[in-house]
Amino acid sequence: MVIAVDGPGGVGKSTVANRVAEALELPHLDTGSTYRAAGLTALRMGAPLDDSDAVLAAIAGVDISIVEGVVSIDGADVTEDLRRDEVTKASSVVAAHPDVRERIVALQQAWVAKRGGSAVVEGRDIGTVVFPDAPVKIYLTARPEIRAARRSGDAEAADKSEDQIAAELAARDHRDSSRKASPLRPADDAEIIDTSDLSIDEVVERVLALVDAVGRR
Ligand code: DC
Repeated sequence: MVIAVDGPGGVGKSTVANRVAEALELPHLDTGSTYRAAGLTALRMGAPLDDSDAVLAAIAGVDISIVEGVVSIDGADVTEDLRRDEVTKASSVVAAHPDVRERIVALQQAWVAKRGGSAVVEGRDIGTVVFPDAPVKIYLTARPEIRAARRSGDAEAADKSEDQIAAELAARDHRDSSRKASPLRPADDAEIIDTSDLSIDEVVERVLALVDAVGRR
């Protein structure tokens, strides 16, 4: 079964999705890394990020693969490059193009199909678009100041103030939620969990309880 974990940045999605995948012995796909790989490819090829056709042509010419969390472009490990600031921003810009999304979503669906159709898949539109029939859909949220504080603990944010991190998160939220193609929003049948005042363990337990409830039905 697919367990969809959606939500904006800084809510603990990756940590929770990882832990749930481990507990259930399922593969884990971080779909953000697929858009990051698309953004990095566009930057490398000099494709203007707001030009959908140019971005699409750039990513059509490369092979993006993800194996156990290691992302490669044409066989070269780019996992660390994907966390660079300019790539974070580029990923959000290229993710707004419907044609680019179509291609990247196909890659995500093929990744899960190749693994027998069961995985913990995290992103922004997993429950709404990529796997609308997922039996478990989680949408994580947290108060803005909590998200900024969590992000400031990440290595890539080491030299930024919390105000700067909060402003960048807000800008990306706005871009991700206001785009026409698959905007960031909870699926109607998603379980919304506010992680602001919960520990990781508590969130993981809630998700596992939901998986259990579906399994027993
Ligand atoms: O989760 P992340 O920060 O690695 O995601 C990077 C960007 O990719 C984010 O700004 C929006 C986009 N994204 C998306 O549009 N749909 C997804 N399922 C995952 C990420």
